[in-house]
Amino acid sequence: MTSTDSGVPLLELTDIAVHFGGVKAVDGVSIRLDEGRIYGIMGANGSGKSTLLGAVTRLNPLTRGQMMFDGVEFTRLRPHRVAHLGVARTFQTVRLIDDRTVRDNVQLGVDTVTRAHRHELTTSVDEVMERVGITAVQRMRPSELSYGMQRRVEIARAIVGQPRLLLLDEPTAGMNTAERDEVSDLMRALQSEGLTQLLVEHDVQMMVDVCDYLFGMNQGELIAQGEPEAVVADDAVRESYLGKAAHDA
Ligand SMILES: Nc1ncnc2c1ncn2[C@@H]1O[C@H](COP(=O)(O)OP(=O)(O)O)[C@@H](O)[C@H]1O
Ligand SMILES: [Mg+2]
Repeated sequence: MTSTDSGVPLLELTDIAVHFGGVKAVDGVSIRLDEGRIYGIMGANGSGKSTLLGAVTRLNPLTRGQMMFDGVEFTRLRPHRVAHLGVARTFQTVRLIDDRTVRDNVQLGVDTVTRAHRHELTTSVDEVMERVGITAVQRMRPSELSYGMQRRVEIARAIVGQPRLLLLDEPTAGMNTAERDEVSDLMRALQSEGLTQLLVEHDVQMMVDVCDYLFGMNQGELIAQGEPEAVVADDAVRESYLGKAAHDA
């Protein structure tokens, strides 16, 4: 039975906090994601988006809160066990191993999933590389590629393990508009296969185009959520986002 059938959210976060000393990077966030939808988190730099994704993958220590995946609590699981549950992510800064080929880097995504599934997944490394558009560069090293291509390799590594939830942290940073549209198309294609996605992205247009539902964050807290058009137009979101952007500029 899928979560959609049972009404159980795929991901449910309750009162999540991640404090780094005195810095309340995330402070009391509760969200639920239903299976098969694409969600987005908007917020100025420093609002806690990446830290929240890091809390879900258990790479950031939790100060408080509870996390459930498809009805199973994973608040205290080790990061590799969270990956086994079916949670995968890409990082805001590219994290690829440079003394290995592109293909090897994608293969590493297979190694994060449970041993029992590995055999069927190795056959899909080629398919995933084809799909993401990196087949031609599979023998190259990541550093020989453009930034946009490196990001594709990261996405390939994240999806090759066939996760149920994909967290994407600014996957189109450094990409041009055409490349960005390709990522949007890929996300929709993955959605049509049932993959739930949570996207952090600064491009407001892409957020509205690709997401079914948006969250707005500011200073570690949720300040809005709902239909994308409504969240983008929300006064508090506009003030935090545009005010900070104007300040940074
Ligand atoms: N490992 C860390 N140690 C200390 N402070 C951190 C750490 N990671 C993030 N922060 C701080 O937490 C806040 C939120 O950061 P981050 O989650 O990266 O925001 P965003 O992704 O929304 O730009 C920032 O003030 C940042 O400096
Ligand atoms: Mg970030």
